[in-house]
Amino acid sequence: MYETLVTELAGSIYTITINRPDKLNALNKIVIRELGEAVTEVYENPLIRAAIITGAGNRAFAAGADIRGFAGLTKEEGMALAKQGLDVFLKIENAPKPIVAAVNGFALGGGCELAMACHFRLCSENAQFGQPEISLGLIPGYGGTQRLTRYIGKGPALEAILTGNLINATAALHFGLVNYITGPEELMNKTKAILFQIISKAPLAIAKSIAAVNAAGGNDAGFALETKLFGECFATEDMKEGTAAFLEKRQPVFKGV
Ligand code: COA
Repeated sequence: MYETLVTELAGSIYTITINRPDKLNALNKIVIRELGEAVTEVYENPLIRAAIITGAGNRAFAAGADIRGFAGLTKEEGMALAKQGLDVFLKIENAPKPIVAAVNGFALGGGCELAMACHFRLCSENAQFGQPEISLGLIPGYGGTQRLTRYIGKGPALEAILTGNLINATAALHFGLVNYITGPEELMNKTKAILFQIISKAPLAIAKSIAAVNAAGGNDAGFALETKLFGECFATEDMKEGTAAFLEKRQPVFKGV
């Protein structure tokens, strides 16, 4: 049914697996569009009571937005790209049914932002979280500056965003970014066990709990500023150099222009 996703509905739980393992499940335009469609299915299909988002293979949940798709984009096109992802991720965050991330490896850039848009996260021991966009001459564009700060606090979030350093599973648990760490083989079962417990509760109270807890997240004005600043990066030479260097598998040389 989908080109880049594999979906399965079993026992009222809908599992959405991003299926580009050879590209570490990088989020290209098709993945973002199809994630939006799969989340619409979660909203609309009464047989679905909860959902899990995960990545195919054993290396990555998603290693970010697809850097190949950045080439040649203008500032306006960069903003539009960010807005598309942000809208899908807000739809996940505001879903009336629980959508949980089972993070089975790298959750970087847009992958970390996708995991953070979910209602909560479990991860395997080999998971690594991070916002390494700075190494591309970019900033996070799918809500990462806002959600990482909400989850782990301003100092640790700024350190992660400014260094691009990754956050391993143990540190993610310490920060409260994930609720549990499991062995890779137990990740899906543990996630499903929690969801089965949740879906035994009252559906309308579940939806209202999510809406009320989301309201504790704070002011959303930062998302619009992030989109604007992300777009502005596309007008810089540093962003062109950073993304080209990644694709050419070399170190970037940044000049501040
Ligand atoms: N966009 C596009 N392609 C990506 C990607 C991304 N975000 N992340 C990984 N890939 C691709 C690589 O280009 C490579 O493709 P190739 O085999 O055609 O060359 C493949 O996935 C495997 O990645 P590779 O870099 O060779 O694996 P690695 O084990 O050496 O490194 C990572 C793994 C995650 C450290 C590295 O892939 C990485 O830094 N990815 C980018 C992370 C990032 O900056 N994300 C934010 C994007 S805004």
